[in-house]
Amino acid sequence: MPCPAFVLDLERLKSNLELISKVQEAAGVHIILALKAYANWKTFPLIGSYLKGATASSLNEARLINEEMGCKAHSYFVAYKEEEFEQVLKLSSHITFNSIEQYLRFKNQIGESDSPVSVGIRVNPEFSTVDTDLYNPSSPGSRLGLPAEAFQSGWPEGVDGIHFHTLCESNSYDLEKTLQVIEEKFGGHLHRLKWINMGGGHLLTSKEYDTEHLIQLLTAFRTKYKLDIILEPGSAIAWQTGELVAEVLDIHEAKDIKTLILDVSFTAHMPDTLEMPYQPHIKGQVKASDTSFKYRLGGLSCLAGDFLKDYWFDKPVAIGQRIVFADMMHYTTVKTTMFNGIGHPSILHWDGKHIHTVKSFDYLDYKNRMA
Ligand SMILES: Cc1ncc(COP(=O)(O)O)c(C=O)c1O
Repeated sequence: MPCPAFVLDLERLKSNLELISKVQEAAGVHIILALKAYANWKTFPLIGSYLKGATASSLNEARLINEEMGCKAHSYFVAYKEEEFEQVLKLSSHITFNSIEQYLRFKNQIGESDSPVSVGIRVNPEFSTVDTDLYNPSSPGSRLGLPAEAFQSGWPEGVDGIHFHTLCESNSYDLEKTLQVIEEKFGGHLHRLKWINMGGGHLLTSKEYDTEHLIQLLTAFRTKYKLDIILEPGSAIAWQTGELVAEVLDIHEAKDIKTLILDVSFTAHMPDTLEMPYQPHIKGQVKASDTSFKYRLGGLSCLAGDFLKDYWFDKPVAIGQRIVFADMMHYTTVKTTMFNGIGHPSILHWDGKHIHTVKSFDYLDYKNRMA
């Protein structure tokens, strides 16, 4: 098997999709894939056979959805560019604006276009159950969505939908609290709308998620307001569907600290481990004890902070050994860079019997990103 490599398990992806599609049917809602979290397009035909489309946050994402999922995108960009908007219109079934100014700027173009789209506005309920600021769209002064006071003089004419996104790896009880605030702050507008997009962050494929509660919650909301409900999770689709396999190239020792130098980089290939930050689980790691062996995991870049602390193993690690990072499909695969020119991990598919190399990267991938 080539190394380093992201290995996607197609069976695990399918079982996530089966669960999500059951929830979709039972609750009578539309669940679509957020491309920002997962864009491995070779699996889009599979994903498209379970889900009702995908959401784009850029022109490139909207194009990829049209080309590889064969449907129009639900677009929400933080801002649209004049020179791109005509293309966005052609590629989208829904366009959500982040401000009323942006809507007014493009309103005529939408009206005159022969590509019909349904328009939405992103609101900000200024309430979120997310603690980490980097992932909290409702922190004070957030640029994401408009607070309730922006609609004091009424809901903008021609806007059929309302969009909010305030969750991150959250459960249905977090959504329930959020919906209460949405009703308090925006309830007066809901009856005249056609759809509500409840964003992402619904981690409905995690073992702890109470999907029955979600179904009840969504069914009650849909019945009360007679709205189409759209959820656009990303992480939940690719949750626990694949690993990043790396190899130990060297073992560096300084001041009694042993660092396993890997053929991957945290900053280039697993940036959330440093940004969030979080400590990914690796296969074979054990709890700290008098008999276990402690290492740092070192990235291959020259960035001083490109390492993770304190991993323990039940025997000494050897050069050439493989280190397998769990749950590396969502966000990780879309956020990688070619920093330092370090070899990018290949993308492999495991179908239960065989491993297929779907994509490998070479010098030209590195060179073509620059000029
Ligand atoms: C507007 C919007 N929709 C959907 C998502 C997907 O969220 P998640 O991958 O946590 O489900 C995000 C993530 O940032 C987002 O910003």
